Amino acid sequence: MGLLHEILITLWIMLPPYVANGSAVVVGGGMPIDFRKNFIDGRRILGDGKTWRGFLGASLIAGAVLTVQSLIESCLKIHGPYSISPYIAFFLGVSFGVFALLGDLSESFIKRRLNIERGRSVPVADQLDFVLSFILLTYIFYREWAITWLTPERVLIAYLITPPLHIITNFLAYILGKKEVPW
Ligand code: CTP
Ligand code: MG
Repeated sequence: MGLLHEILITLWIMLPPYVANGSAVVVGGGMPIDFRKNFIDGRRILGDGKTWRGFLGASLIAGAVLTVQSLIESCLKIHGPYSISPYIAFFLGVSFGVFALLGDLSESFIKRRLNIERGRSVPVADQLDFVLSFILLTYIFYREWAITWLTPERVLIAYLITPPLHIITNFLAYILGKKEVPW
C-alpha cells in the first residue's frame, strides 16, 4: 500500500511535465525555436526538432492538464498537490510545461554541440532531461510546493518510472509519423 500509493502520487504530480514532453511531439512543427540559425561552431543552435508550436502548445496543454487535476482534487475533496484555484492551476501548469521543455531544449543544445544530429537518440539523457529540469526548476521557483510534494523518494520514483513511459510515448510518436525511429 505504501509504495503503490507513492508511485500513484508521483504519477499524479508528474502528469503535467509528462504530458508536456509527450505532446510536443504531437503539436510540434513549423518554425524552429532557433529560427534555423547556427551557433558559433557552425552547427544549428537547437535544430529542426525544437519548434515554437511544440514548445508553446505543449506548455498550454500542461496548463490545461493541471487545471483538470485541480478540479478533480476539489470535486473529490482531496488535499493534494494541485488543490489550488483553477486560475492559479492553469498558470502553474504552463510553468511546469515550460520547466520540462527547457530541459529538452538544453539537451538538444548540448547534442548539437557534440555534433549529434537531430533525432538521434541518446538513451538515458533523452528520457530524463525534462525530469531533471522540472525538478530543479520547481525547487528553485516553487520551493515550498516542491519540498512538500516532491519528496526525495518521489524524485527517485519519477526517475525510475520515466524511461518505460518515455519508450511508450516515443513509439506512439513513431506510429503517428512524428519520429523517424521508434526509440
Ligand atoms: N518537438 C517540437 N518542439 C519541441 C519539442 C519537440 O516540435 N520543443 C517535436 C519535433 O517534431 C521533434 C519531436 O517533437 O522532432 C520529438 O522530440 P525530440 O525527441 O525531443 O526531438 P528530436 O527530433 O529527437 O531532436 P533532438 O535531436 O534535438 O532531440
Ligand atoms: Mg529525440
